[in-house]
Amino acid sequence: MIIRPRVRGFICTTAHPQGCAANVAAQIEKVKTQLSVEMPKRMLIIGSSTGYGLSCRIAATWGAGAATVGVAYDKEPTATRTGTAGWYNTQAFQAYAARDGYTAVSLNGDAFSHGMKQEAIAAIREHLGQVDCVVYSIASPVRVDPDTGERYHSVIKPIGAPFTNKNIDVDKAVVDQVTVEPATPEEIEGTRAVMGGDDWILWMDALQTAGVLAPGVRTFARSYLGPDLTEAIYTQGTIGRAKEDIEKAAREITRRLAPLGGVAFTVINKALVTQASSAIPVVPLYIAILYKTMKELGCHEGCIEQEIRLLQNFLSKETVPLDAQNRARVDDWELREDVQARVHEAWARIDTDTLEQYADLAGYRADFLRLFGFGVPGVDYEAECDPMGPVL
Ligand SMILES: NC(=O)c1ccc[n+]([C@@H]2O[C@H](COP(=O)([O-])OP(=O)(O)OC[C@H]3O[C@@H](n4cnc5c(N)ncnc54)[C@H](O)[C@@H]3O)[C@@H](O)[C@H]2O)c1
Repeated sequence: MIIRPRVRGFICTTAHPQGCAANVAAQIEKVKTQLSVEMPKRMLIIGSSTGYGLSCRIAATWGAGAATVGVAYDKEPTATRTGTAGWYNTQAFQAYAARDGYTAVSLNGDAFSHGMKQEAIAAIREHLGQVDCVVYSIASPVRVDPDTGERYHSVIKPIGAPFTNKNIDVDKAVVDQVTVEPATPEEIEGTRAVMGGDDWILWMDALQTAGVLAPGVRTFARSYLGPDLTEAIYTQGTIGRAKEDIEKAAREITRRLAPLGGVAFTVINKALVTQASSAIPVVPLYIAILYKTMKELGCHEGCIEQEIRLLQNFLSKETVPLDAQNRARVDDWELREDVQARVHEAWARIDTDTLEQYADLAGYRADFLRLFGFGVPGVDYEAECDPMGPVL
């Protein structure tokens, strides 16, 4: 079949196998030329098939020679339907790792379940012995509690009062306004239960009990802070509460890891187009303005550049440099004064007529489509393609 993007709201329901493989190949090439570090070499990455988790896995493999076990939750293709982008990314990752002689095991299934934790433990025992770094990089709208069977949903809403601000309709290239009503107490708790620290703690307990954590093990989960512009919908909203819970979990995990001398912390990444961030109201307009600003100032980064910097400046250090809140800050360029001053000015002036002038909508759209393997240089999108065939 000829595979085209089929975009529904903020999701694309198709993915291009060769396009996804080309994305992975491009990230590998970047790492090969930009990164060569010594750091923990046995890694478990939970949420390894797209976004920050995938880039971290690529950077660790080709930049530090790491052996990895990756866990993700992707849909397999059928004869008539493409798989998810993460499915093809993982196929490509495995093929390139095998070509270059790296140990890599990828597991597909629900990381929130007890069963997947046991599968990962078995894979670690068989292929790595133990791990010295555990990366928790999940973004999900739903989680089933493995003990109670209760199904929780995460929502992106403000807390306490409605939030109104500028917003972008990416398809129509229109700047309008959006009002998001405040979350109910159940929604606040649901978001915490999905995106907070409960599952990270369950993972670390399971790994520690199984004896597959190496002495001095490091583990981190991801978070975002961002500027005052998005504060009401992000840090002060439901997702911010969940991220506070992640920070609390980091302290608890560090306490439990004491016998191993291990440490848990959060990594604060920059705002980027990924499947997770495109669903947040207001944030896509902020990202489109941020892209334009950071590109003009020469400090724009994608997931792979962020992860290269994370490995170089944080993970390869004997003691990971953390701020007073136990956070590794890779969002420093986004929050630079000159960057935010320009973003604020653009935010005040932007409307549909001045969209081009103040925001990089083309860059945003291109990055969004690239998440699904579309618009990647060198890929023949007119060629017949078997969704179940090999990606390389
Ligand atoms: N995108 C941003 O702008 C941004 C910025 C800072 C921090 N973060 C944080 O980074 C983390 C990862 O986000 P992302 O943007 O890379 O998201 P993403 O959607 O690109 O990646 C999420 C990954 O989690 C996996 N996953 C989801 N549910 C799963 C499940 N039940 N079992 C197994 N795997 C599952 C997916 O398969 C995928 O590999 C999140 O905590 C997010 O809040 C994102």
